[in-house]
Amino acid sequence: MSIKSYPSHPDITDEMWEKIDAIIDANKDIAGSVIGVLRMSQDIVGYLPVELIDHIAEGMNLPASQVFGVTTFYSLFTLKPKGRNIIKVCTGTACYVKGIKEVISHITNKHGIREGETMSDRRFSLEGVRCLGACGLAPVMIVKEDIHGNLKPDEVVGILDNYN
Ligand code: FES
Repeated sequence: MSIKSYPSHPDITDEMWEKIDAIIDANKDIAGSVIGVLRMSQDIVGYLPVELIDHIAEGMNLPASQVFGVTTFYSLFTLKPKGRNIIKVCTGTACYVKGIKEVISHITNKHGIREGETMSDRRFSLEGVRCLGACGLAPVMIVKEDIHGNLKPDEVVGILDNYN
């Protein structure tokens, strides 16, 4: 049984902290490993809250400012919580021409989020991405792992009703 007490954070359980500490222990003496530690920790929690960045910095014996700098430099890191369902709308040329902007407008009007934002109840995050490689299906969005192509703007809200 663990007697360690972890920082209190609503999104990080003790079990998560234990896994993160195991990752830190396995990597703390390896030069340049902080990016991998941050990535694995983000995979566990879903994002990198400041308390987690501080904890990783302390465990890796690095200045918190340096670790924070890494998280802001690389776009793969996110410092804000993401939604349970990530909507990726393709803003590549084919999808743009076929009306993805209208699709995005319907999502924004219904759920109150723009590209790069997450709903306050964390149901959806909306992300714009460059060509998803399915231009023949334009306009395209991916929700979780599901590809939805040939989207009609007025059908989008109904599609999203299937994700909670
Ligand atoms: S431009 Fe959207 S899938 Fe290629």
